[in-house]
Amino acid sequence: MVRYLAFPLSRPSSISPGLPRSRLFPPFLHHSFSTTGTRWGPLLNTISHDHRELEAYYPHIIDNKSADERTRYRNLFVWELARHSVAEEMIIYPAIEKHVDGGRNIANKDRDQHQSIKEHLYRLQNLKAEDPDFEPTFKKLFSDLQQHVKEEEEHDLPELEAKLDKDSLLQLGKSFERTKVLVPTRSHPSSPRAPPFETAAALLSAPIDKVADIFRKFPKEDGPML
Ligand SMILES: [Fe+2]
Ligand SMILES: [Fe+2]
Repeated sequence: MVRYLAFPLSRPSSISPGLPRSRLFPPFLHHSFSTTGTRWGPLLNTISHDHRELEAYYPHIIDNKSADERTRYRNLFVWELARHSVAEEMIIYPAIEKHVDGGRNIANKDRDQHQSIKEHLYRLQNLKAEDPDFEPTFKKLFSDLQQHVKEEEEHDLPELEAKLDKDSLLQLGKSFERTKVLVPTRSHPSSPRAPPFETAAALLSAPIDKVADIFRKFPKEDGPML
């Protein structure tokens, strides 16, 4: 039986209506929205949608008065960023490497940036919301993420979109979404009682080829198109 992750809270698109835009997106975040371009194709639209959702968690993690709520949103942010990052590493960066001139350097640069973001993510995951290090750790992570997102949206993904036709981009976007959904709570087929990744930290620490290997053992209609 397929079980999907049970997220602790609904996604920002459904939690944001009560918040004024100025609270939802702190002033410095407006810069990242200026990258939105009319020339974006279907892949950039898919990936940037995730980026906007991640950005929308900021006020819920930093401004929330309740430590319990900050903890819940932190947990949601960590899972969302973990599965977004893993899906990019499995689906998008190999495509950049394959199709873009100098793509190997671009993909490696993105992997290095992910590594630094992951290190902060591990730290954040282990901090209590009342800990004095909680806010600075999240802010540092968020600032690194903003720079990374900017590079993906302004350079790396447009380069890939320029090389592929619309159908291929739609397929890549579909594969990306499918991989995210499959960040599994279900058992590894070869060890039925042990979920492969019980925490986001475990998922992020797994070598990407090991993650891909597990997905390859899923039924074809459920798995990512690797
Ligand atoms: Fe990324
Ligand atoms: Fe991204």
